[in-house]
Amino acid sequence: MKDKESYENLKEDIRFHDHLYYILDDPKIKDREYDKLFKELLTHELNHPEWVTKDSPSQRVGIKPESDFSTFKHYKQMLSLANSFDPNNLFDFHDRVTKNLSDIKELDYLCEPKMDGAAVSLIYEKGILVKGVTRGDGTVGEDITSNIRTIRSIPLVLAKSSTKFPKLIEIRGEVFIHKSDFKNLNTAAKKNNQKIFANPRNAAAGSLRQLDPAITNTRPLAFFAHGIGLCEGLDFHTLEKMFKIFSEWGLPVNQYNHLATSIKASLGYYKDIASKRENIPFEIDGVVFKVNRIDLQDQLGEIARSPRWAIAHKFPAEEVTTIIEDIDFQVGRTGILTPVAKLKTVNVGGVNVSKCTLHNLDELKRLDPRIGDKAVIKRAGDVIPKMVRVIPAKTSSRGSPVKPPSQCPCCTSDVIFNFQSEWRVINSSVDKTLKKFSSLYEAEKYLAETNSGELEIYEHQLETPFIKCSGGNNCSEIVKGKFSHFVSRKAMDIDGLGQEILDSLIEKGFIKDYIDIFNLYKFKDELQALDRFGKKSVENLIGSIKLASEVDLYKLIYSLGIEEVGETTARNLAIEFGDFNKLQSASFENLIDIQDIGPRVASKIREYFLNIDNQSSLLSLIPYLKINNPEPNIKSDVALFSGLQIAITGKINSMSREEAKDILLSKGAKVTSTISKNTDFLIAGKNAGSKIDKAENLGIRIIGLNELSSFLNDPQQFS
Ligand code: IVH
Repeated sequence: MKDKESYENLKEDIRFHDHLYYILDDPKIKDREYDKLFKELLTHELNHPEWVTKDSPSQRVGIKPESDFSTFKHYKQMLSLANSFDPNNLFDFHDRVTKNLSDIKELDYLCEPKMDGAAVSLIYEKGILVKGVTRGDGTVGEDITSNIRTIRSIPLVLAKSSTKFPKLIEIRGEVFIHKSDFKNLNTAAKKNNQKIFANPRNAAAGSLRQLDPAITNTRPLAFFAHGIGLCEGLDFHTLEKMFKIFSEWGLPVNQYNHLATSIKASLGYYKDIASKRENIPFEIDGVVFKVNRIDLQDQLGEIARSPRWAIAHKFPAEEVTTIIEDIDFQVGRTGILTPVAKLKTVNVGGVNVSKCTLHNLDELKRLDPRIGDKAVIKRAGDVIPKMVRVIPAKTSSRGSPVKPPSQCPCCTSDVIFNFQSEWRVINSSVDKTLKKFSSLYEAEKYLAETNSGELEIYEHQLETPFIKCSGGNNCSEIVKGKFSHFVSRKAMDIDGLGQEILDSLIEKGFIKDYIDIFNLYKFKDELQALDRFGKKSVENLIGSIKLASEVDLYKLIYSLGIEEVGETTARNLAIEFGDFNKLQSASFENLIDIQDIGPRVASKIREYFLNIDNQSSLLSLIPYLKINNPEPNIKSDVALFSGLQIAITGKINSMSREEAKDILLSKGAKVTSTISKNTDFLIAGKNAGSKIDKAENLGIRIIGLNELSSFLNDPQQFS
C-alpha cells in the first residue's frame, strides 16, 4: 500500500514539474533529475500495470487509430469573431455594446493577443481531460483527443484549487507553435528532406490532424486557453477571474492578456502590442477585445455566429518587397491575355509567392512594373497576392515599359484589342455619376427600378482595352483551358484529370474533343504506358469519367465555358429551359426574357450554339451523356422569393456564397451585396462586419447561418 502511495505522489510531483517547465517556463529541477522521477514512475507501472490510469504522465502518447478521426458535436457552438482592420472602429464597437446595455457607459475590456494557431475545444469532466476536438465548422469538429494528450502544456488532470471543478467544462483555446520552435522544426525537416511548413499556423493545424499521435508527439505544440463553451455548475463572473482560476487549475493563459478599464485604454493596449509584435515569441495577427463581465456578455448575446461582446482587430496585412524577374502574358480559356509578374520568391504572411497577376492593361498602366524593378506585395488573410506599388530601379539600368503583345505568346495568332464600354447612370440635374454598369441592359434595369425622372444613361468607353488571342481552337493554351474548365469540380467534376495529366493527354492527341474524354476507356493500355500513370490510376480515372457521364443540366451548361455564362446563369438557364435541346434552339428573344440575362449574354449564348465547331462537339457529346434535368417543382419555387431583395455578407460554410446566391436567384430573389432601405433580409455569414450594424439600424431582419436552410425553404416564416 505504501508503494501505491509513493506512486501517486510521484505522479503529482511529475505533474508539478511539467507545469513549471511547460507553462511557467521556470523549471526547478535539472532535466536529469526529472528523467529520474519519470523512470521511477515507469518502474512502478511495470510492476503494477493495474495501477496505470489514463491520467498518468506516462500515458500521453496513445496508439494509432484504425481509420479517420470520428466527429464530435460541440456542446456549445464555437463562435467566430467579427473582424476589423481599422483600430478606430473600436469606438463604434463600444457604442454598439453600450447601446445594447442600458445605463452602462464605461466598461472593462479583457484585451488579448489574437493567436495565429488552430482553435480547439478541450472537455474536462470533474477536472479530468476526456476529449479534445478541432473547431470544424463551429458546430461539429473532429475528435483529436489522442493528439491533444501529447501536448505537454495541456494538463491531463486539472490541479486542485479553492474553486471546485465543474461537472463538465469546454475549455476553448488555441494550439500554436512558438517562433523559435518553428524555426527548429523546419531546420530539422530540411535536414531530413521532409516537407517544410509554410508558417507556424499550418504546422500546428497539420500536426493536430496526424492520425498517428506518435508523430504529433514530436511536434513542439503549445496551448493557451482563451474562453469557455458549456460550463456546468460554475459561474466565473468575469473573464479576469476566469483566467485566474484557469491558471490555478494549471491551464496555460496568455501572459500578454490585460484588463483595460476603458475603451480608450483598450486602444492603448492595441498600440502597445502592435509595437511589441516582433518580440512576442509566438505569431499573433491582431488583438481581441472582450467585455469582461460575463453577465453582460450574456445580455449582449450573439449575432450571425459572432458574439456581440467581442471584436478582433487585425494588424494591417504584411507588405514585403521583392524583385520583378519577368512579366509575361498568360492566355486563359476565353483567349484573354492577362499580364502576370514573375517574382523572386518571397514569403508573404506565411506563404511563398513567386508570381502575381496584374489583372489587365489598366493595372499594368497604373503600376508600370518593369523587369528589375522592386515590387511591394501584400496578402491580406488568405487572398491572392496583390502588387501594391512598384519601386523603380535606378533610371540608368531600368528596363523598358511592358508593351502588350500584338501576337499571342502561345500560338502567334493576331491579338484582338477589345475596347470595353461601361454604362453610367447619371443624375442630369447635378451632373453626377450614380452608378456604373458593364451592360446597357443592367443600366436600363436599374433606371426602371429607380424610377426617377432626373436619371440618364450614357456610354463611356474605357480607356484601356483588354486583349484577346484570335486563335480559337488553334491555340493550345485556349484548348487546354477549355478542357480544364470542362473537367473542373463545378463543371463535369472529373477526378484524376489534373492540369499536368490533361495537358499531356491533349499533347499526345488522346483528347481533341469532349467526347474523347469519355472514350479514354478504349485506350487503357496506351494510357498505362504514359508517365505518371499506373494501372490503379488509369482505373480510377476511367471510373470517375464514367461517373461524370451522368450530369445535372446546369453543370453541363456551365462546363461548356460559354462566354459570360457563369454558374448562376447556367442554373437560371437550366431551370428556365429544363432541357438541353430547348436551350440549344432558344432564340435571342427567348433568352433575354430570362431573369438576369441581358442582350450581351444572350448574344454570347446564341453565338456559341451557332458556331459550327461547337455544334459538331455537341453532336457527339450530348447523346452520350445522361443528363439530369431539373425537377419541375424547382420551377414553382421561382415565386417563393419573388419581389424580395436579399443582401449577403460574410462567409458561409455549408455552401459557397455563390451557391446561396444561385439558389436565391433561382427562386426569384434579387440578390445584392449592399444594404439599402429596400433590402428585405440580410444573410449574415461568418465575420460579417459593419453591414450587421447597418441592417440593425434600418430594421432589416438578419438571417444567421443556423437559420439559412430553413430560410431558403420558406422565407415567409421569417417575415
Ligand atoms: S475568443 C467567441 N480569443 O480566432 C469568441 N479567439 O475568429 C471566440 N482566436 O476560432 C474566441 N486568439 O480560435 C478568442 N485571444 C483569442 C483568440 C481567439 C485567436 C481565434 C479563435 C477563433 C477565431 C475567431
